[in-house]
Parts: sequence; structure tokens; C-alpha cells
Amino acid sequence: MRIRQPLLVAALAAAALAATPAVATASDVRGTDAPDRSAHSVLSTQPSLRILAQRSGLKVGTAVNMDLYGSDAAYTRIVDQQFSTVTPENVMKWQLVEPTQGTYDWAAADRLVAAARDNQQLVRGHTLVWHSQLPSWLSTDGTTTTFTPQQVRDLLHKHVVDEVSHFRGQIWQWDVVNEAFNDDGTPRQDIFYKAYQALGMNGLDYIADAFRWAHQADPHALLFYNDYNLEFTGAKSNAVYAFVQQLQAAGVPIAGVGFQGHLDTQYGFPDLQNNLQRFAALGLKVALTEVDVRTFVQPDPAKPGSYTDVPLTPALQATQESYWKQTLQACLAVRSCISYTVWGVADSNSWIPGVFAGEGAALLFDDNLQPKPQYQDLRQVLWTTRAPHRG
Ligand code: G3I
Repeated sequence: MRIRQPLLVAALAAAALAATPAVATASDVRGTDAPDRSAHSVLSTQPSLRILAQRSGLKVGTAVNMDLYGSDAAYTRIVDQQFSTVTPENVMKWQLVEPTQGTYDWAAADRLVAAARDNQQLVRGHTLVWHSQLPSWLSTDGTTTTFTPQQVRDLLHKHVVDEVSHFRGQIWQWDVVNEAFNDDGTPRQDIFYKAYQALGMNGLDYIADAFRWAHQADPHALLFYNDYNLEFTGAKSNAVYAFVQQLQAAGVPIAGVGFQGHLDTQYGFPDLQNNLQRFAALGLKVALTEVDVRTFVQPDPAKPGSYTDVPLTPALQATQESYWKQTLQACLAVRSCISYTVWGVADSNSWIPGVFAGEGAALLFDDNLQPKPQYQDLRQVLWTTRAPHRG
């Protein structure tokens, strides 16, 4: 017998209330003292994204900015209440955990892991090996270093083992290697690739090493390769598809592939579901790991050279909403797609305006942390889609 919608809504709402007392307590305990901008009647009375996603077993996540989490009350409340998995936007990256060689600073990352435990959230560790945000003592540009090739390999080994060991047992998925391929499908010539080549190996062998070292340090973490533009069928997606099969054939402990999902309304919507499906068919988990949908936004008349968080036209807003819905639908349709993470909470703290001039409005909450139509779109998709349940 089908449960009638009002009854199910009531059941979900009850579940939402039942599931969140620890959340409210945790926020209170952290003593957030920023002005409370949470006139969130909508957020507090409707079942959250995380509650609605329970139907399919999908984890719904966000990247967390630790400069805001715990100090901005409204921001913190959204992270705690809406999401069942969190990803540190920056604080687990090599540059931040080892700013001085040999001296670790885990404080901010530890704070997020502890909060996630309080809030019954899983953590996506991000990211162990990446050409960007390397500590300046190692490389300032990702492609050059003063260390010898053997030293680079040894430093990589120490970094992976030390970081994964520090968080052992507390990380659900690790993005072990991030963005190792160029858009044309060739390997990125970063310090790791070049060091391994100089040592007489295949340049990409650093990836197998990193996965093996991470697995030894935490055998239970799901180890992911993570990249952008895998959503689109093309040279890069094909190259990664071929490469992960080589890893599998060599017995490398790769568990999944992360599709970042940084989309832009000026480009067509990608062949996402088929790409998720073909990687899943290899026996891998897949995940959407960094979803945002940017578009052109209106200039701010009060501040020449600056922009608002308002799309330039209603048509662009509609396209954004369509893209958001399609990303979630694609993930829900693929049973092996185990998590759907958005890359930040509010437009005001997104990386987009700083990188793509004139573009923005890429997230689910506006500059005042109020939910946008795309937030309701995701709720509706979670509510209406009959998706296979993932374990
Ligand atoms: O921490 C310094 C601070 O001390 C300094 O005062 C300030 C001045 O600019 O910079 C701060 O560092 C910034 C850092 O974020 C931490 O906030 C960097 O400038 C800034 O470039 C950096 O941006 C991050 C970016 O990765 C780096 O490439 C973004 O927040 C983060 O969202 C973004 O995330 C990446 C994923 O990790 C991988 N996939 C692509 C995605 C978007 O680029």
C-alpha cells in the first residue's frame, strides 16, 4: 500500500525533529556568537536535505569553510541540520596541515571531524595529493621544487601516511589524488609526476603509491580518485576511465571516483548519468563531490566592478535550477553513487566570484544565508524520485 503524501511528510518531519536534538545541542555548546541571521522558518519547519535523502540511502554533503563554521551561527546551523556528510573545503590540504616542514597543524580539521561526530555526519577527507595548495616549502607553483625526485617521493609517503593515520577510523571517503589529468587526457606534469619519471618509473606511478600507502594507514576508508570535467564524455573522462582500470588490474585499492561537478550555465548539461554509470560498472563507487552551478550575475550598482548574487536573467536562474535537479537525479539513478556534496553553503562564501569574473550565484543559499529556489528543487527531487536504495 502506498503511504499517502501528507502522512509521509508528517512522518519525515517527525523523524527530522527526532534526529536533530544532538545537533542543536552541539551548536549551542559551541557558543556561536555571531548575529543570528536565521529567520529560517522554512529550514526549521521542513524536513532537511539529509532527512529527505534517507529514503534512498544517499548521503548529502557540503564543503565546510572552517573560518565560518562555529563562529557564524546561521552558517553552522545549516551545515549541522541540512547535511549528512561534510568535506573540509581547505583545512585538510597539505598547505594547511603542514605549513612548516615537519610541524603539523591539525587543529581546524580536528574541529570539523569532532563536530561531524557530534552531528552524526560522515567525513569526506579532501585531499591528500594535489598539485595546488602545496606548502610553500615544497612547491610554490605545483610544477617545480628544490627537492630531489627521491626526496619528493619520500615526502609524499610521509605526508600520506601521517595524515591518514592521524584521522584513522574517522574518514568515510578520502580523496587520495585530486586532478591528476589535464582536459586533453594527458597526465598533469606536476612535481609528483616529474619526480617519478626522473626516478625511471611511469610518472603516474605516484598515484598507485598514494592509494597503497593510504590503504595501509586506514584500511577501512574508501579511497577515491577525484577530478573535474569527468561529467562530460571526452578525452579527460576517457583517460581517467582507462587509468582507473589499470589501477584495478594492478590491485591498487581504489574504491571510487569523485566527479566534482563544477557546472556553468553557459555550457550544455553534461552526459553525467552515463559517465557515472560506466565508472560504476567497473565495480567502483561514484560520488558527486563538489557540485556548484555558476552563472552570469548582475553587477552591483553600489560598487563598480563588483557583482551581486542575482543571475543576470530569469532564464539563467531557470537553467541553474534545471542543472541542479539533473545532477541530483543522475546520482540518484545510479545505485553506486553514494554521496552528493555541494561545494559550499552560500554564494557569499563560494570560490566562484574570485575565479570567474562576473559569474556567481553558484550555491543553494544566498548571501544572507537564505535558501534559494535551487535548495527547494533539491528537496523536491529527493522527495519525488523513486531511487534504488544504496546500502
Ligand atoms: O589562508 C589564506 C589566508 O591566510 C590569506 O589571507 C588569504 C588571502 O587570499 O588566502 C587564504 O588562502 C585561500 C584558501 O582558499 C583558504 O581560504 C586561498 O587564497 C584561496 O586560493 C583558496 O581557495 C581554495 C581553492 O580550492 C584553492 O585552489 C577554495 O577556497 C576552495 O574552494 C577550492 O576548492 C577546490 C577543491 O579543493 C578541488 N577542486 C576545485 C575546487 C575549486 O577550486
